Amino acid sequence: MSSLLEVTDLVVEYPGKGLRGKPFRALKGVSLDIRAGETVGLVGESGSGKTTLGRAVLGLAPVTEGSIRFEGREIGQLGRRERRKLSQDIQVVFQDPYSSLNPSMTIEQILAEPLTAGGTGAKDAGARVRELLDRVGLPSDARSRLPREFSGGQRQRIAIARALALDPKLIVCDEPVSALDLSTQARVLDLFIEIQERTGVAYLFITHDLAVVRHVSHRVAVMYQGELVETGDGDQVTARPQHPYTQRLFLAAPVPNPDEQRKRREARRALAASQNV
Ligand SMILES: Nc1ncnc2c1ncn2[C@@H]1O[C@H](COP(=O)(O)OP(=O)(O)OP(=O)(O)O)[C@@H](O)[C@H]1O
Ligand SMILES: [Mg+2]
Repeated sequence: MSSLLEVTDLVVEYPGKGLRGKPFRALKGVSLDIRAGETVGLVGESGSGKTTLGRAVLGLAPVTEGSIRFEGREIGQLGRRERRKLSQDIQVVFQDPYSSLNPSMTIEQILAEPLTAGGTGAKDAGARVRELLDRVGLPSDARSRLPREFSGGQRQRIAIARALALDPKLIVCDEPVSALDLSTQARVLDLFIEIQERTGVAYLFITHDLAVVRHVSHRVAVMYQGELVETGDGDQVTARPQHPYTQRLFLAAPVPNPDEQRKRREARRALAASQNV
């Protein structure tokens, strides 16, 4: 697998949001690469900078220092045409599809929009919409309906179909299943995996849920206070966490087995005592 995305020593500062109006450093020198067809899971507590990294990759956060390269080219230095191509190659799926799907547009209009904007004719766009709906497991009569007529899981399928419309190489998935119940979550995750197997798309998969990250990721990166503190293959990071934060995160995950739950509770106490937290 060749490198698709290379983030090197990335610093993102939000102006005037820090102490006494100083810039707030949300990312403090983050390096991460994603290969073609790979899923990198990004975990970390709330406010650690996960979304900021995702937005930076999408060109939506200010790059203060460092570099973001896509297929070997610095994204901040692309010309207008290349930038347009990049906005097709990197797509995004958010936690709450309802906020990102125009409520007054039909599913057909929502899915055809990126296609026609890219110059596809109406007839071809119509055929592609049907193909996309089929790919995400929705019936083709969904076309004439509005987003509010679908369940949360179905709406997430629509958002995934829209992200897939232009055959992207990378999708930034920001907590895409966090708002779904467990069984819907599992089916949507299976869909992500199936799509990857079929198309070779790569994912930067942001989640706070270790079970989710383990299920989908080839590698896992752990973010803590604006830094990546641990990166490794999924089983390694979840089974033998190295960084104190990752150890706490792992022990915090609920487990169904009461004996295991008790063991973890005791381990959490011991760890908190030894780490002084
Ligand atoms: N547009 C912004 N302007 C100023 N500060 C911001 C902005 N976006 C994020 N931040 C700050 O940067 C830090 C990282 O935020 P970010 O949204 O990346 O965290 P996160 O890991 O995605 O959290 P969550 O799990 O809650 O979504 C937070 O302290 C946040 O307040
Ligand atoms: Mg976030």
